[in-house]
Amino acid sequence: MSGIRKVHVKTYGCQMNVYDSDRMTDALAPEGYVETDNIDEADLVILNTCHIREKAAEKVYSELGRLRVMKQERAARGDSLMVGVAGCVAQAEGKEIVRRAPVVDIVFGPQSYHLLPDLVAKAKAGRVVETEFPVEDKFEHLPAPTREKTIARGVTSFLTVQEGCDKFCAFCVVPYTRGAEVSRPAAQIIAEAERLAGAGVREVTLLGQNVNAYHGADHGEGWSAETGGRDWNLARLLTRLAEIPGLDRLRYTTSHPRDMDDELIAAHRDLPQLMPYLHLPVQSGSDRILAAMNRKHDAADYLRLIERIRAARPDIALSGDFIVGFPGETEEDFRDTLRIIDEVGYASAFSFKYSPRPGTPAATATDQVPEPVKTERLARLQEVLDARTKAFNESRNGMIMDVLFEKPGRKPGQIVGRSPWLQPVQVDAPTEMIGTIARVRIEAIGTFSLFGALVSTAGAVVAGDTGAAARGASGLPTTAHPANVHPALGAGAGGS
Ligand code: SAH
Ligand code: SF4
Ligand code: F3S
Repeated sequence: MSGIRKVHVKTYGCQMNVYDSDRMTDALAPEGYVETDNIDEADLVILNTCHIREKAAEKVYSELGRLRVMKQERAARGDSLMVGVAGCVAQAEGKEIVRRAPVVDIVFGPQSYHLLPDLVAKAKAGRVVETEFPVEDKFEHLPAPTREKTIARGVTSFLTVQEGCDKFCAFCVVPYTRGAEVSRPAAQIIAEAERLAGAGVREVTLLGQNVNAYHGADHGEGWSAETGGRDWNLARLLTRLAEIPGLDRLRYTTSHPRDMDDELIAAHRDLPQLMPYLHLPVQSGSDRILAAMNRKHDAADYLRLIERIRAARPDIALSGDFIVGFPGETEEDFRDTLRIIDEVGYASAFSFKYSPRPGTPAATATDQVPEPVKTERLARLQEVLDARTKAFNESRNGMIMDVLFEKPGRKPGQIVGRSPWLQPVQVDAPTEMIGTIARVRIEAIGTFSLFGALVSTAGAVVAGDTGAAARGASGLPTTAHPANVHPALGAGAGGS
């Protein structure tokens, strides 16, 4: 084999998989692999998979069918193709994948991607399956991407701070595919955030399946012989990250209502860098179903929590996740869900039909809801949620807000950025403004984007931002987000 080799990673599932896919290409870079968007020119194709619902998991096998044909075509002309399956399906069904899909050379779980160079080398001699949870910290073993690579990835970045989950909601595979809850040491996260900011990243979204349960303890930053170290929670971590020059916007996802502590709520009041948008799934509005789901709170607890968060940050917008047709859900339970949606007033939300997952308690419940009932409830739910999103977007019309520009827009002469509430905003402006935060007046509301114009507003009150604006590095009138990817379902996931 000669010269450069190319790797193509196809990512399914949540933002954590998006983060992991970049780490995989980082791990392979020292081996001479460069990333390619074109699957046809790849020597190595990796599917980074999601197991959250049946449909998500099935996609993997149809994609493997296509790769089998590709591998045969290559073999016919004397070329080769190596195929890897990573992520949560790999973790859950490792051996089954190898059995069902002979095209696969390597199967590796989410905790093993730092071993990738080794696995690729081994796979030349035969198929390998690596789904153990290794004792070492994979983050310690990953090479950092070059500055150029970080810049090429854009002005917004994900940063995984916590992995796994100990909550065991009755419907969910995550505690099995990602294992027990583990937090990365704060010093490691701070160093990564500083490196990102140093390469021009303006917005970081902290990731975790249960991100607000973050509890890193370490003897790095803040450690002294007297205090014997410092315990970290998400609020303290955000406060520390807000000190990093250039890092003007912070977000975090996904949170569990049970872990929204007072300090974190106060951070929403005190940190201008913390954007006024929070994904806080409730799943159902029925106390009976919430108990059956093992969510560990009821509807009233959730509503009280929302009240406290809104008191701390009045302009905060909320998003949520909903499951319809959980075993035992009656029409009355479903109406409780419609009611809580009405009471909270979500800016956006994701909704799904309950999908029984192997190994989870709810999968074997005898009172499964028939498919047509799930379909009908989902349609009703989505109608209500879509109307809410539309109303929220309409409420931004005429507003002046800070937008972090991320990339060229749909039309020539346009660039697109994100509002504080994660809405895409299209503006006529020069591409040199990508990577800066500027004030924009919203002039029209489309289905998927807001449309606005740059404004010069010295001294004006700007919605959604309480001061980060002034500190832009560009000198432009100033104040990112990765694509609007749902934590569990990827871009464009509307639920089904
Ligand atoms: N940790 C997050 C959720 C991660 S999974 C939390 O607790 O909120 C993302 C979303 O996928 C969940 O919020 C839920 O709405 C949906 N989901 C998870 N398992 C599912 C299943 N078996 N069927 C349908 N939707 C599911
Ligand atoms: Fe954990 Fe969220 Fe899954 Fe519940 S839904 S088990 S909190 S990942
Ligand atoms: Fe895994 Fe994320 Fe899907 S944790 S199961 S890839 S939602």
